[in-house]
Amino acid sequence: MTSSEDSPETNLPVSTPPDPLLVEKMRREWDERAKENARYYVATARSEWSDDEYFESGRQNVYHEILTDMGNVCRGKDPGDMTVLEIGCGSGRITRALSEVFGQVYAVDISGEMVRQAKEALRDKPNAHIFQNSGSDLRVLGEIQADFAFSYIVFQHIPSREVIQSYVNEVYRLLRPGGLFKFQVQGDASLKTAPEDTWLGVPFSDDDAVAMGRACGFEPRHRHGAGTQYFWLWFFKPQNPA
Ligand SMILES: C[S@@+](CC[C@H](N)C(=O)[O-])C[C@H]1O[C@@H](n2cnc3c(N)ncnc32)[C@H](O)[C@@H]1O
Repeated sequence: MTSSEDSPETNLPVSTPPDPLLVEKMRREWDERAKENARYYVATARSEWSDDEYFESGRQNVYHEILTDMGNVCRGKDPGDMTVLEIGCGSGRITRALSEVFGQVYAVDISGEMVRQAKEALRDKPNAHIFQNSGSDLRVLGEIQADFAFSYIVFQHIPSREVIQSYVNEVYRLLRPGGLFKFQVQGDASLKTAPEDTWLGVPFSDDDAVAMGRACGFEPRHRHGAGTQYFWLWFFKPQNPA
């Protein structure tokens, strides 16, 4: 893990509104992927997944990224009493595993077809609440208060810093003081990305990532995997926000 003590130098735009045409393109293309083969585009290790294999792969991810990190995630709270927010839930692979650990799960995705499939797959999980969102904010969730927020292989697909910064601002708004937002961004700057490419997201340097968190008040306490496709960030909301 990298310490967050170094000082960021960056030109990240903080409050530029997302481009509505780009957001619409993300929605259209993720809907197309979901209709063609949602599970493949969510987890490309296989083109065909059985239910058991698909949801077990989500449990494995939750085990490695959350259950081995419960000190940061729960900070002494009972998971059964916690409300969790998930951004980019796809067809519910991770959401199911989250609902087996935490009290309430609120999950959003830009794609109506992904959301339809997630709701269908999680009919038996009344504590999983799944919504189609705007593609750049969390207004659809109203004023919920989350104890922990998580996003897995989602921001790597978003080609706009404005959209990602907007989500970070929104998570900050909905997290309880002290709460953690654990997520990944694209860290590989050697990738040939394009502003309109909804598969390969915009890369972040270590300084960019720190600046993005600090811009809205987060403490970027840990980072791991800078320079790679799986650049993990642990953003904590201060116990006493300014
Ligand atoms: C690779 S899938 C991962 C799904 C899920 N996190 C998992 O690991 O099973 C990426 C998901 O992000 C969603 N997504 C892409 N852009 C988004 C955006 N701007 N807002 C919300 N969701 C988005 C896609 O619709 C897709 O379901």
